[in-house]
Amino acid sequence: MPRVAYVNGRYVPHANACVHIEDRGYQFADGVYEVCEVARGHIMDMTRHLDRLGRSLSELRIDWPMSRATLQIVMAEVVRRNRVRNGLVYLQVTRGVAPRDHVFPQPGTRPAVVVMTKRSDPVAAATRAEAGLKVITVPENRWDRVDVKSIGLLPNVLAKQQAREAGAQEAWFVGPDGIVKEGASTNAWIVTKDGTLVTRPAETGILRGVTRTTLFEVAAKLGLKIEERGFTVEEAKGAREAFITAATTVVMPVVAIDGVPIANGHPGSVALSLRQAFFDVAEKMLA
Ligand code: PDD
Repeated sequence: MPRVAYVNGRYVPHANACVHIEDRGYQFADGVYEVCEVARGHIMDMTRHLDRLGRSLSELRIDWPMSRATLQIVMAEVVRRNRVRNGLVYLQVTRGVAPRDHVFPQPGTRPAVVVMTKRSDPVAAATRAEAGLKVITVPENRWDRVDVKSIGLLPNVLAKQQAREAGAQEAWFVGPDGIVKEGASTNAWIVTKDGTLVTRPAETGILRGVTRTTLFEVAAKLGLKIEERGFTVEEAKGAREAFITAATTVVMPVVAIDGVPIANGHPGSVALSLRQAFFDVAEKMLA
């Protein structure tokens, strides 16, 4: 079955889904995006993703490309047309198409919108979770508005590639104070010896992950305590467990940081039980 994408008002074959060369996303990374998990035929946490999209758009002064309700219908339609049961739906909104000029285009320039999906294999993901991921640490080199989910991701791309070349799967950005910020495409967590979950506050310096927010509810359901505070790389290396969260990975145990095994070097039970409980707790919209 051919893949289908949504591009500026039309459902088109994925293979020839194109945007204009003067799309400001293409020229300036002048746009924002969201990635929602699709699990068992449901789009997960739609409300929180669209809330965050609205915030990103308003921080960058980009208009909604269509009503929130319509956008939700388009996302569900792309998932349906591609018969995705497990995977993701990707949404990108840019400031639109206009002659290249750094300043904002003429008022009335329509934001450009793209929606596409990608399938993933839940069995392969479960296998990855049972093995756990390795993480490297890299110095923070991003701008200070990483709370906006902008499509300008060059430092993230380079960090992820560095991780790949080091035999790891994620890179954690670390501030000059030695505190872990977040991964190139995930939020970072540890579990202390007494079983408390620790993650950095999301007011500044990181993206407030939707998975991170929902995990507060999952943790409460499991009777686990969360502390929002910074933790150093050293603390993480000595932690009982470490893990990452994102729409693309849900909860993934981390088994090594910069080559140092975490605890016995195997995925921790807290991370695995959070992963297990996530689907039931998160908001589900049938696509
Ligand atoms: N990334 N931090 C960063 C820098 C991210 O790019 C992401 C998500 C997260 C986790 O956010 P959420 O739980 O809402 O997915 C944290 C997406 C999945 C991506 O770029 O593919």
